Amino acid sequence: MERTFILFKPDCVQRRLVGRILARFEDKGLNVVAMKMLTITPELSRQHYAEHVQKGWYPTLEAFITGGPVVAAVLEGLEAIRVVREMLGATTGLNAAAGTIRGDYSSSRQMNLVHGSDGAEAAKREIALYFKPEELVDYQPTITKWMRAADEG
Ligand code: CDP
Ligand code: MG
Repeated sequence: MERTFILFKPDCVQRRLVGRILARFEDKGLNVVAMKMLTITPELSRQHYAEHVQKGWYPTLEAFITGGPVVAAVLEGLEAIRVVREMLGATTGLNAAAGTIRGDYSSSRQMNLVHGSDGAEAAKREIALYFKPEELVDYQPTITKWMRAADEG
């Protein structure tokens, strides 16, 4: 089992798409193991997007991501990091494949609705940035035995 960090960005909350997009992750078989609403501060934005802080477009990203409430969550499932990234689609909504979240709901490079960790190290770092260890809930849904065979992990 693997855990990944996702963030429903301010455009997603403002467009009232959180429920519909969360349902896609749930339908896929991913478990929500932590979730909360917050407003990102400039300091948290700089930590989250540390790899982009030096980029010319970072100030507009910071203005966007701090510009309204977000919903942060941790999803758990087999190969959850890869599965979520593939469900999100390419960064720019205009280029993202139809059937992906960004492909279906976004036409923007910046306002692409949902963030997902891009690797194991990022997932660990981002989960710790937004959640205390005790905010992560361990449970096994009883439906699991009807979601995949026992030898699939
Ligand atoms: O989110 P993802 O990993 O697909 O893309 P990224 O290249 O790591 O960029 C992080 C986020 O910055 C994107 O999801 C966009 O919201 C934003 N961005 C932007 O505002 N302007 C750009 N030129 C590129 C990305
Ligand atoms: Mg990225």
